[in-house]
Amino acid sequence: MHDVVQDYYGRQLRSSEDLKTSACCDPTRVPAWLKPLLANIHEEVLERYYGCGLICPPLLEGLTVLDLGCGSGRDVYALAQLVGPTGRVVGVDMTEEQLAVARRH
Ligand SMILES: C[S@@+](CC[C@H](N)C(=O)[O-])C[C@H]1O[C@@H](n2cnc3c(N)ncnc32)[C@H](O)[C@@H]1O
Repeated sequence: MHDVVQDYYGRQLRSSEDLKTSACCDPTRVPAWLKPLLANIHEEVLERYYGCGLICPPLLEGLTVLDLGCGSGRDVYALAQLVGPTGRVVGVDMTEEQLAVARRH
């Protein structure tokens, strides 16, 4: 199973356009509050976004957030802006190609 997941997210998908499922919500319908946060995130991270939208409480300042299956880190970088300099966001993923993008930026 690990190999299948890593092959799909690491090698078959090169961008959000390649997703082979319509199960996720439409990533182009981003809520207004999230847009300015995404504007600060590198294009390569955004292109490798394979998620279903970011759901989080509105007040996160100073908190620690764990993102399991963070992929290239779009939500990690968005959440980092919400927790601020006194908070912390930890992203965990098992697909090296995704982590390489996250680490580059
Ligand atoms: C649907 S993608 C979402 C990625 C990311 N959250 C995003 O929004 O782009 C699922 C991610 O979970 C990771 N993943 C799946 N099973 C995992 C596991 N057991 N341990 C760590 N990561 C896992 C995959 O490598 C993939 O990057």
